[in-house]
Amino acid sequence: MCPSLSRAFWTSVTKLGLHTKPRMPPCDFTPEKYQSLAYDRVLEVHRLHLPPVPTAYFPKPLLLHQGHMEWLFDHEGNRYLDCFSGIVTVSVGHCHPKVNAVAQKQLGRLWHTSALFFHSPTHEFAEKLLALLPEPLKVIFFVNSGSEANDLAMLMARAHTNRTDLISFRGAYHGCSPYTLGLTNVGPFRMELPSGLGCQSTMCPDVFRGPWGGSHCRDSPVQTIRKCSCAPDCCQARDQYIEQFKDTLNTSVAKSIAGFFAEPIQGVNGVVQYPKGFLKEAFKLVREREGVCIADEVQTGFGRLGSHFWGFQTHDILPDIVTMAKGIGNGFPMAAVVTTPEIAKSLAKCMYHFNTFGGSPMACAIGSAVLEVIKEENLQENSQEVGTYMLQKLAELRDEFEIVGDVRGKGLMIGIEMVKDKMGRQPLPQEEVNQIHEDCKRMGLIIGRGGIFAQTFRIAPSMCITKPDVHFAVEVFRSALIQHMERRAQQNS
Ligand SMILES: Cc1ncc(COP(=O)(O)O)c(C=O)c1O
Repeated sequence: MCPSLSRAFWTSVTKLGLHTKPRMPPCDFTPEKYQSLAYDRVLEVHRLHLPPVPTAYFPKPLLLHQGHMEWLFDHEGNRYLDCFSGIVTVSVGHCHPKVNAVAQKQLGRLWHTSALFFHSPTHEFAEKLLALLPEPLKVIFFVNSGSEANDLAMLMARAHTNRTDLISFRGAYHGCSPYTLGLTNVGPFRMELPSGLGCQSTMCPDVFRGPWGGSHCRDSPVQTIRKCSCAPDCCQARDQYIEQFKDTLNTSVAKSIAGFFAEPIQGVNGVVQYPKGFLKEAFKLVREREGVCIADEVQTGFGRLGSHFWGFQTHDILPDIVTMAKGIGNGFPMAAVVTTPEIAKSLAKCMYHFNTFGGSPMACAIGSAVLEVIKEENLQENSQEVGTYMLQKLAELRDEFEIVGDVRGKGLMIGIEMVKDKMGRQPLPQEEVNQIHEDCKRMGLIIGRGGIFAQTFRIAPSMCITKPDVHFAVEVFRSALIQHMERRAQQNS
């Protein structure tokens, strides 16, 4: 469908009622009445006392009050389908009854003692989680956030190799601590102060936006609209990007390096997927330089990608260190680093790692409950089935609308990249993406944003989402796109 379609066409579309507000699937949960600070007072307190960083979505930010599974309720009782789950974090559903019950039980028993004492929830969780990881990844360090986990992984890599240089992709987000900011290469997070000693970036093998990419590069039910003539078992884009990676190794780092960090699929950069086989080859090259390989599973872990429990498994690779956070606690602040006994020993030789809250009985009881729910409710399988279905439905919108440049992802980690037009792949201007985002919210759908120009919509709901929910989300998104095209047609008439 062409962006230059006439006003008459879009008016007739409206008359046909194609963008009447889509109907939400039913929900038998009734939220409590909101009885706290008035909306304007919240805005005032925020303006006066919270950091002057414009993090909130929407000119009139949402004031959320309660959550139930895939649903959120605002202070006025309006219901939203939450397709961003607190930035890919509420893995099994808001206030999941089983996780809540376990948390309440532990709350009444023991909150905190520190690692100076033993408490069985920690040991139970360590055993359960490590059973999900292959040999030799059998030592776990508990921390409280993804940034802390990656900080520690950076130290581990350096301690183990006795080298300094670390490589990460352009577009990567690995945290916002002073140390991890060296690895984080997404525009808005680049710091104006000296930082990032020994951290080097390398080209992100982005098969949609990057210089190379074709029609079967990625591990996704939906490929790019770019064409290629590669035979099924070869990928020229992968080979070209590997040449770039070699170039970084040959020109920008020491002969031996500490390591390489990669998200199995980039989250903050807008669900960017690399060509199949890229990470496998990159890991080999890093190991030839005596570096260790770190998989940042903060967004991709815990079954979200559907086909596998961990993102690294989808690339057929075995990292030396795995970092995890977000979905591990369904929103409870907790995180972990898993590594080999050798690397753990190297760290212990260099430092006495200590963390007051890491591995608290509360966090670990919740972590165990989350793992049980993922298994009991087949949430990984649900990610695979419902996520694939959603990707296919969204791909139909990509074929219908010129401004939907790419639909990608795996399981319930989905990106929709908005462009001025498919041919040029230039990002759709922010104001236009903002308006589509706002329209989705108004119709009851919460989605996220990502990419260097905030041009990509991100969909990563709790893994309990259903097919009727997906119908609703896709209808809302389609309706927002139609409204956008109407506005364009009006402006051009
Ligand atoms: C891939 C990845 N790594 C690390 C982090 C940092 O996690 P946290 O915000 O918990 O420090 C994030 C946060 O968005 C992330 O997406």
